[in-house]
Amino acid sequence: MLVLGLETSCDETAAAVVEDGRTVYSSVVSSQVDLHARFGGVVPEVASRAHVDLITEVIAESLVEAGIGIEDLGAVAACHGPGLAGALLVGVSAAKAISLAAGLPYVGVNHLEAHLYAAWLEEPDLEPPIAVLLVSGGHTMVVVMEGHGHYRVVGETVDDAAGEAFDKVARHLGLGYPGGPAIDALAAEGDPAAVPFPRAMPGEPDFSFAGLKTAVVNHVRHQPDTPVADIAASFQEAVVDQLVDKLVAAAAEAGAHTLVLGGGVAANSRLRARVDEAATATGRRAFLPSRALCTDNGAMIAAAAWWRFNAEGATPLGWGANPNLRLPEA
Ligand code: KG4
Ligand code: ZN
Repeated sequence: MLVLGLETSCDETAAAVVEDGRTVYSSVVSSQVDLHARFGGVVPEVASRAHVDLITEVIAESLVEAGIGIEDLGAVAACHGPGLAGALLVGVSAAKAISLAAGLPYVGVNHLEAHLYAAWLEEPDLEPPIAVLLVSGGHTMVVVMEGHGHYRVVGETVDDAAGEAFDKVARHLGLGYPGGPAIDALAAEGDPAAVPFPRAMPGEPDFSFAGLKTAVVNHVRHQPDTPVADIAASFQEAVVDQLVDKLVAAAAEAGAHTLVLGGGVAANSRLRARVDEAATATGRRAFLPSRALCTDNGAMIAAAAWWRFNAEGATPLGWGANPNLRLPEA
């Protein structure tokens, strides 16, 4: 079955065609990063309007690239939360319109569940339980996936998301937006041991990044001569230490032999290297999805939709979008 998946929860307008939750026929992502860069972050109203402008073209391109027509689809899916309310509504409305016009089942998809399914697109033979670190601009959590549709959130951030910390620190260091890739690149030239920034909440499953951000601001104020590359590398190391420690602890507790990454921050080179090392050191396997599948995309929506549709059938068209949707735990 071919599923069209739409993703408009934040600043990427994306559409993809995926067969049986596994085979990607096409995946088109139109990023609005340039549009938001001058504001130093995503402006919700600007994002919604850009989604409206882009969505039809992005959907058309995904069908052309897949070499199929709407009549070949078995279902149409959209991310219905969590995310920005106005932005989510664009994808949900487009999917419902196609559903009504073409007589296709509509499937509303949880954005976090979709990030978990990105890994299955490249590695269909993952053996649950797996421990997944989901790190994006809006979320930071460790989820143990016990089986399809069965998730347990082991730890979450109590303040900022990891990506948000990267973005805020980058802005303070004058590195522009989005901050993650900028810090990632600059950190390669710095010393990660130059500044001993704090590692929050050791031994606990939850995360915290607000104190670390403040520590960077204070350090820059008191020691303005520290090379920016050293600050970037030391900050990144403190974030990565926290992320890797809690992922490995959750895997040990759950008896999970596989570590998986998801979300935009999973594109971070240092995080990828350290998760790989940690897996080897603890006799586990690390699966790091390609960067294009870590950041927001329609393929992960279509993949998650296929699993949901097979388990529960279509989503009623009366359902809307929910900006605060949680990962369904069961
Ligand atoms: O998953 P995503 O594309 O969108 C959200 O759902 O939030 O994640 C975007 C976040 C941004 O905060 C961005 O700075 C961060 O991912 N990011 C990175 C890297 N690439 C993107 N953070 C660290 N290192 C990177 N290479
Ligand atoms: Zn995301």
